[in-house]
Amino acid sequence: MAADPHTATSLDAYWMPFTANRQFKAKPRMLARASGMYYETPEGRRILDGTAGLWCVNAGHGRKEITRAVAEQLEVMDYAPAFQIGHPAAFELANAVVRIAPKGLDHVFFTNSGSESVDTALKIALAWHRVKGDAARVRLLGRERGYHGVGFGGISVGGMVANRKAWPTAMIPGVDHISHTHDLKRNAFTRGLPSHGVELAEDLERLVALHDASTIAAVIVEPIAGSTGVVMPPQGYLKRLREICDKHGILLIFDEVITGFGRTGSAFAAQEFGVTPDMITCAKGLTNGAIPMGAVLVSKNIYDAFMNGPAGIELFHGYTYSAHPAACAAALATLGIYEGEKLLTRAKQTGPTFEKAVHELRGLPHVIDIRNYGLVAGIELASIAGSPGARAFGVYQKCFDRGLLIRTTGDIIALSPALIIEPKHIEELFGVLAQALRESA
Ligand SMILES: Cc1ncc(COP(=O)(O)O)c(C=O)c1O
Repeated sequence: MAADPHTATSLDAYWMPFTANRQFKAKPRMLARASGMYYETPEGRRILDGTAGLWCVNAGHGRKEITRAVAEQLEVMDYAPAFQIGHPAAFELANAVVRIAPKGLDHVFFTNSGSESVDTALKIALAWHRVKGDAARVRLLGRERGYHGVGFGGISVGGMVANRKAWPTAMIPGVDHISHTHDLKRNAFTRGLPSHGVELAEDLERLVALHDASTIAAVIVEPIAGSTGVVMPPQGYLKRLREICDKHGILLIFDEVITGFGRTGSAFAAQEFGVTPDMITCAKGLTNGAIPMGAVLVSKNIYDAFMNGPAGIELFHGYTYSAHPAACAAALATLGIYEGEKLLTRAKQTGPTFEKAVHELRGLPHVIDIRNYGLVAGIELASIAGSPGARAFGVYQKCFDRGLLIRTTGDIIALSPALIIEPKHIEELFGVLAQALRESA
């Protein structure tokens, strides 16, 4: 296609995020419409959505309730300043989120994305220790292979090298990482949570011994690590992290940007795994992906410390679009759908069929691990020597050509379909994927 930006269809001007731009622009893949479990290409080819967009369209595409709510809100009031003045939908939404949140997380700070939620939570953690008079707690801990978005805070606590290596001196100081929990040797082909690896939580004690707890503000982990390739928490691991944090006065933050809103079979993974953190970061499924929005769920203990602090603005932080009226309308409609259709626990019913289907891929060429929980699965492929990621990307392209959208990270395929998925879609999804894997032999 022409590179002239004056041609409306030129692909040149748009610098695509997390995309091999040159490769894409040489052979574009476009989506034009979406409804239910399917996308449609501009030529009218149907593509089964195996990834709920980017882990966000949990109630399926084209939900009219959300469209109507957003349109009505924009008609009535398009925008209200976020600072020092409110609008009713923001308060209504905060209450609605708290109703489905783990007990004890009863305050909500709104953002516009997962990355902003992460940076917000990290800032709240630091400011909380300070407002309590413990300003020496300045260290933030993440985990190797973690993904926490792309802000400077998020890449600092994140642990994926490609997202960090270009900005080595821009990391926030004092950050350290506990070890990841991916263990192919002991846990390959586990269904649900792996039985090996609870002891990896003790790595937090190593960092406490190294830095001293009095310097550590918080540790952030994804309950299920998504972007690194779907890594499940070993049985008992999150509980042990909670215990160690409690012992040392360290805040525990769960980044639930992908696990929030029903992915695991509960509203949040914290409930599913029976471990309550001090804060939860979320986004994506909050609005079914229709309007950008994120949130940080905060414990009463944290919120109250600010409210008992100096008079005036308690936290010098916020976004022009925090609790944007259109986003609030989308989120309220989304939560209404989740409740009305019992979607937040649907993965418990569909999960076993999904699990059976994904594990039937075992034995296909180059498949070295399959892991799953609720409606999320990772399929790890052996890399082609010298070309990491090429094998999985080949499968991705084949799937797209055959009418299926999957996601790949390195040589791991991640599946996270909308929670409305039915057995016939599961059959279609794994039929296409199995064929693509066979062809990639
Ligand atoms: C766990 C986690 N945290 C944060 C983010 C960043 O969210 P966003 O892309 O909305 O900034 C993501 C995105 O996939 C994520 O998976």
